Amino acid sequence: MEIFPQSILEPLPLGEIFQNDRPIEVDLGSGPGKFLIEAAQKFPERNFLGVERLLWRVRKTCRNGVRSGLTNLRVLRSEIDYTVRYMLPRNSVWRFHLYFPDPWPKRRHQTRRVANGEFFNAIYGGLVDGGELWIKTDHQEYFDKIALAAEQSYLWSPMIWAEEGYPVTDFEELFMAKELPIYRLRLRKRSSNPR
Ligand SMILES: C[S@@+](CC[C@H](N)C(=O)[O-])C[C@H]1O[C@@H](n2cnc3c(N)ncnc32)[C@H](O)[C@@H]1O
Repeated sequence: MEIFPQSILEPLPLGEIFQNDRPIEVDLGSGPGKFLIEAAQKFPERNFLGVERLLWRVRKTCRNGVRSGLTNLRVLRSEIDYTVRYMLPRNSVWRFHLYFPDPWPKRRHQTRRVANGEFFNAIYGGLVDGGELWIKTDHQEYFDKIALAAEQSYLWSPMIWAEEGYPVTDFEELFMAKELPIYRLRLRKRSSNPR
């Protein structure tokens, strides 16, 4: 269930890893893994890849995935930024999910935020045509910056939000329990090859 790539200098061989060519969804910063486990159970006809840097969260997700007998789930212990830039093949991902990325609220720490211009370009390259990036955050200022960057870019079409049966995430559950606002954005990749 946990992926140990032979090389971190080559894109992941996703077809080999999943042993099929079904649509791939990638959860960036997958945390303890509730979303991944439940989504992989609910949508067995899709493949799910979690990317998470904390070892215990990766291990917990893998343990639960094995217990649930999931064959369409893999987890990579890695940095989000490095993974989307260098480890995901171009035009390979059907949907990216970025849920509750660390907000780094202090101004001097904001360069640590993952969702910046370079990130969006790499996500764009990793998506298949018509693929999507789904974002949720509780942090309004971070959200506004992301939404503005997307609006000003010709790469993305904003889509109407629809849950489409996806489960709530670990952090979403905490924020919902506290009745805190949650900001959502769904962006579709504009075709890189318009007719
Ligand atoms: C606030 S939690 C949200 C977890 C999950 N997406 C959810 O909604 O429940 C952010 C997660 O992203 C992980 N994370 C933050 N920055 C990361 C990075 N640069 N690379 C990989 N994982 C990262 C953290 O370890 C943490 O598990």
